[in-house]
Amino acid sequence: MTIHFILNGKDVSVENVGANQTLLDFLRLERRLTGTKEGCAEGDCGACTVLVGRQTCAGLVYEPVNACIRFLASVQGCHVVTVEHLSGPNGRLHPVQEAMVEHHGSQCGFCTPGFVMSLYALWMQVPEPTVTQVETALQGNLCRCTGYEPIIKAAVAVSRYGTPAADHLNTERDTMTARLRALQHETRIVTGPQDNLSILPSNVDDLAACLLEWPDATIISGATDVGLWVTKFLRNIGPAIYIGHLNELKTVKRQGDLLLIGAGASYTDCQSTLSEHLPHLTSYWGRIAGWQVRNLGTVGGNIANGSPIGDTPPVLIALGAEITLRRGRDRRTLALQDYFIDYGKQNRAAGEFVESIQVPLPGPNDRNAAYKISKRRDEDISSVAVGIHMTVTDDLIGNARIAFGGMAATPKRASKAEAALNGQPWSHDSFEAAAKALIDDFQPLTDWRASSEYRMLSAQNLLRRFFLEQDGQTDAPVQLAIA
Ligand code: FAD
Ligand code: FES
Ligand code: FES
Repeated sequence: MTIHFILNGKDVSVENVGANQTLLDFLRLERRLTGTKEGCAEGDCGACTVLVGRQTCAGLVYEPVNACIRFLASVQGCHVVTVEHLSGPNGRLHPVQEAMVEHHGSQCGFCTPGFVMSLYALWMQVPEPTVTQVETALQGNLCRCTGYEPIIKAAVAVSRYGTPAADHLNTERDTMTARLRALQHETRIVTGPQDNLSILPSNVDDLAACLLEWPDATIISGATDVGLWVTKFLRNIGPAIYIGHLNELKTVKRQGDLLLIGAGASYTDCQSTLSEHLPHLTSYWGRIAGWQVRNLGTVGGNIANGSPIGDTPPVLIALGAEITLRRGRDRRTLALQDYFIDYGKQNRAAGEFVESIQVPLPGPNDRNAAYKISKRRDEDISSVAVGIHMTVTDDLIGNARIAFGGMAATPKRASKAEAALNGQPWSHDSFEAAAKALIDDFQPLTDWRASSEYRMLSAQNLLRRFFLEQDGQTDAPVQLAIA
């Protein structure tokens, strides 16, 4: 079978698309669109950034993504925009490119197409960005030689060189929407060689049916983990069932006292609803990966992969979240903490998939926090992450739920520390007792991210920090000296 999408202005049909085929290889090797670079091939450097336009409930949305870890089959029905598409009549530079030239934003130039594409996406969304917005948009772009100052100056100045309303992605939006609508598939697509099939279900019921037919298939959502299995570990991931196009799985909404998150909702899809209902997660969320990865990576994928250092499980467990798993027509719901059995072992049967996550919203006496410790502030995996929840009534602590990532083989609650807090007064001494109890909760590993001692001390200090911040002793983030 064939997949269809639009590449820059042209309709493209590709037959026999194997599960392992990446968008970047297709662009560079088959279409010779070599403006899009390959640097790290693992989603870290942004040299391969392209825009992908997809139909959402809110219309056509363009997002910067990493072509190196995006699989070709997943762009079925999308509009892929590479840096070559920016050139104007007679090769005139695009406003973003002009700003980069005028502000000396490029030296060797290897990273430049990736920066230009991220800044293009930013300018389309926020024509006059602040420095903070630029920094956030560039979390996933690495430049080794120019230095970020000229690039940031260029980013802030783009609107002096043109207006997004006149950009062809906007002037052609209606035509493009109609062209993309015509490409939406109502039946399942199965393509690729027999030993490396790509399967695109037509809807969520069809996904359930596909998983009964291929129970051991690799489910691919945003591919920000699975992409690396191919580019770094050279694994054959077929048969692969793609779910990133299923808008039914992307719902994020409040329902009564719960926040419902579809397993296929990306970090970006969640961001505004999360900030509204769980504001303590706003800055934490902004430190998960970089913009390109947040546009693809999903909460469902972060949970399903079972990683002990995934950033969402600790904070969702602390909030008391549940997940719903589905196999065929059967669904079951379990506490998120019970999904993680052991390292590499999750409570998920063959043919089953994560359908949604339900997060209870905090009540008036609840206190919540989420902290991440990593070697770099941006675009880095956690050494230690924690979600903290408790209720404080009449100065007494109750219902403490404290879940850590990076401290054990799975994301895990600190039950001894919780017991040390429950029923105790809201006081410095109660938190000191909880910090001590963490020693009985965890024996963390030493690895290249952090030593065991560092992890334990950080975890204890995070409890102290929570107390100080919540106690109103400081509005600023608290820095604690090593004991
Ligand atoms: P995929 O790669 O598509 O899948 C991951 C796993 O989950 C696979 O085993 C897949 O089969 C399974 N899966 C996916 N969806 C389902 C489902 N609905 N049901 C059952 N199984 C499913 N992670 C962090 O936590 N914090 C970070 O700061 C961070 N930074 C990163 C930076 C970079 C550069 C990269 C490349 C990755 C980073 N990650 C980080 C890891 C990754 O982005 C996340 O784990 C992400 O949430 C994975 O989601 P996905 O949709 O891309 O999953
Ligand atoms: Fe580095 Fe894709 S090549 S992010
Ligand atoms: Fe050389 Fe950025 S200009 S890496």
